[in-house]
Amino acid sequence: MTNDTWNAVDRYFTDLLVQADPALEAAMEASEAAGLPGISVSPCMGKLLHLLTRMHRVRTILEIGTLGGYSTIWMARALPADGRLLTLEADPKHAEIARSNIARAGVSHLVDVRLGPAIETLPRLEGEGASPFDMIFIDADKPSTPEYFGWALQLSRPGSLIIVDNVVRSGAIVDQTSRDASVQGMRRFAAMLASEPRVSATAIQTVGGKGYDGFALALVSSRL
Ligand code: SAH
Ligand code: DHB
Ligand code: MG
Repeated sequence: MTNDTWNAVDRYFTDLLVQADPALEAAMEASEAAGLPGISVSPCMGKLLHLLTRMHRVRTILEIGTLGGYSTIWMARALPADGRLLTLEADPKHAEIARSNIARAGVSHLVDVRLGPAIETLPRLEGEGASPFDMIFIDADKPSTPEYFGWALQLSRPGSLIIVDNVVRSGAIVDQTSRDASVQGMRRFAAMLASEPRVSATAIQTVGGKGYDGFALALVSSRL
């Protein structure tokens, strides 16, 4: 089995199951034209985030790592009219492109793009009354994932869903000796997840247009 097969199958299901959405396509094009890295979630993963939002009747979302707002738009499209999505982004250029993509998608009234390093913006959210969030999507700088997961717990309630992207890194996650800070961060996060009594979790490997990676899904199950 090869990458070509993974790509063909990803494209097959994307063509069949992921409805064409001009605003999402425009967001991808504008992000690429602005030179943003091609590291947004795949269309099928975007649709999964969208379905989880609907399935879990999510009204409030926290996203860490906006990029051009591709995943943001997918989730915002699943929110009810009184929903809220707060997305944290450190890079001013990414935030600017995201705001424009989000506006084009017609979901600006639901989304707040907060500029700044997440480790500085996260501690302010509780005091603002923004938390608890029904769903939290962690997809920013990988070495900080354990800290973000700690904040996600702090900003959630029993029943909240926490999704963490990029937990497999082409399989490097199982390399105990890895000196890659992203891999070390994900291994530290996995250990936290394993020993955290307040969540019930799983992790799923994915292949396709975005290579070989995966995500973790945790349900906050007891009172914090
Ligand atoms: N969720 C997006 C992809 C995010 S890529 C999607 O699927 O469409 C990761 C993003 O995290 C990048 O835009 C990067 O600038 C941002 N980022 C990196 N370090 C950060 C930090 N310390 N705080 C907030 N955002 C950060
Ligand atoms: C990277 C970040 C991502 O969020 C992703 O989905 C893939 C790669 C990265 O920083 O390399
Ligand atoms: Mg990612």
